[in-house]
Amino acid sequence: MRLIVGISGASGAIMGYEMLKALKEFPEVETHLIITEGAAENFRYETSLTIGEVKALADVVHDNHNLGAVISSGSFVTDGMIVIPCSMKTVAGIASGFATNLLLRAADVCLKENRRVVIVPREMPLSRIHLRNIKEAADYGCTVIPPMLTFYNNADTVEKQIQHIIGKILRQFGLEYKAFVPWQPETER
Ligand SMILES: Cc1cc2nc3c(=O)[nH]c(=O)nc-3n(C[C@H](O)[C@H](O)[C@H](O)COP(=O)(O)O)c2cc1C
Repeated sequence: MRLIVGISGASGAIMGYEMLKALKEFPEVETHLIITEGAAENFRYETSLTIGEVKALADVVHDNHNLGAVISSGSFVTDGMIVIPCSMKTVAGIASGFATNLLLRAADVCLKENRRVVIVPREMPLSRIHLRNIKEAADYGCTVIPPMLTFYNNADTVEKQIQHIIGKILRQFGLEYKAFVPWQPETER
């Protein structure tokens, strides 16, 4: 299995890092990583991670400016793409097919090849423009998983909240993440 992970410049770069860490638990998954300049900036602002530490988790790392990378072509077969976090600029680019960098081109390719694209849009509050673009992205085939808080499974740390979001995303690709705690009715606890 091959998955493209795009990390863009919305707040929450740590979610992209945690996603790559989670995918390490699936040796059958080859990861292709793209980090935008905005994301690199946010890793600096929001975490103590170096970009080298983030890149080390991926099997293949692509330069966001390299539109000649393999993932720029539909003939390179992948199982889809996760954009986590997904900035409003990147949502707009995906929804409109404005493929000016490799992250946007890779998403564009996945959509034209009918491959799954999961976006994790992060902004607050959302303007009507943001909402329109997110809806358009959904209309054109993206699965939208916003990083929303979860309250039903004792997710009482930021780490557990992120694990829950990651579990939800990976289920879209048929992957069961160990740290994911699904909802369980009282009778089954
Ligand atoms: C500290 C910081 C936090 C940001 N947070 C967000 C955010 O939560 N959502 C968003 O859409 N953009 C956010 N931005 C703005 C994006 O980084 C900016 O629009 C950038 O051009 C996105 O480009 P990219 O999607 O190619 O990474 C943030 C920027 C900085 C510096």
